[in-house]
Amino acid sequence: MCRAIKTLHNFSPPATADEIHASSLQFVRKLSGFTKPSKANEEAFNRAVDEVVHAAHHLLESLVTNAPPRNREVSDVEGESTIGRPSGPPTRGYYHRVPYGPPDRWSWDLQGDERRYLGGIPLVGKRVLEIGPANGGLTFWMTKEGASVVSVDLGPDPEATPWDLLVRPGDDERELMLGMSLGQRALNDNWRYGREYYAGDAQLVTATAYDIPREVGEFDVLVYASVLLHLRDPLRALEHGLSFVRDTVVITDVVPTLLPKEDWERPVAHLVPYPSVRTPHGGITWWHLSPKLVEHYLELRGFRIVRREIGEFRHFSRNVELFTIVATRT
Ligand SMILES: C[S@@+](CC[C@H](N)C(=O)[O-])C[C@H]1O[C@@H](n2cnc3c(N)ncnc32)[C@H](O)[C@@H]1O
Repeated sequence: MCRAIKTLHNFSPPATADEIHASSLQFVRKLSGFTKPSKANEEAFNRAVDEVVHAAHHLLESLVTNAPPRNREVSDVEGESTIGRPSGPPTRGYYHRVPYGPPDRWSWDLQGDERRYLGGIPLVGKRVLEIGPANGGLTFWMTKEGASVVSVDLGPDPEATPWDLLVRPGDDERELMLGMSLGQRALNDNWRYGREYYAGDAQLVTATAYDIPREVGEFDVLVYASVLLHLRDPLRALEHGLSFVRDTVVITDVVPTLLPKEDWERPVAHLVPYPSVRTPHGGITWWHLSPKLVEHYLELRGFRIVRREIGEFRHFSRNVELFTIVATRT
């Protein structure tokens, strides 16, 4: 039933949050004897996974060694570089669960929930600008729905697309950058593989959310799905993105669990990183934004809020709540 639990200590690039989660899940599965717990055991099972993830992060942060790091760089690069490799899809870089990907290496399964995740906006014949597509689970769904999509994401070269990375005192900056570079390359490769798989006409522009090139033109719809929380300066990015859109903006973000519920109706944000938490490459979460902050800012920029919904979506083995706000230009 259970795959082996991998060694995650002393690798270069370091273990990712996804890998730590996958190993922790395997550990709890092994101990409990359940691949998927029953409803009655679900809460205890998920809590145990969270606690093991937490302990594993601390363990990996605390361990010291004089041995040179085990090097995954070569095999990772070879494994993920798929351009011109007809032998099959990339082996990593699966943020979204996709039909052609491995069954167990994704973080989010949005299949069947894409419409709800994007606030139910009409897509037929629309030109969509999507910021932060990852491996394209939403891109190719929107394309199938009849939209023409331009996706903007970071590339593997920090000179070309500077990353909003938090490098703390004591961090090995080179190692973080290397990990981030491999992670972005895998996502970009996988997005391109997805376009080939669906024989779609979506376009991937490597740029940051702050400097989308004007040549991409104008759009009917702008989508920021689970990306504002990862930006150091989400309002600057939003202001820039809004200048490309004629009509509708959709913003999906995690509900701000670090803020008390009453603050969700105030325009406030919580800075997420804690000094003790090592930055996992490629996945830094900067902010928990209140839905009100997003709405308030959109209104200041001349948009009218037409919908706010909160829904649950599948993240690894559990559901996570996200809010989706849809606004149109007045
Ligand atoms: C959490 S994933 C969200 C994927 C997808 N939009 C979804 O909602 O399922 C965040 C995405 O934003 C991208 N991203 C992070 N920082 C960015 C930046 N500064 N500019 C552009 N994209 C960025 C990441 O590379 C990744 O593709």
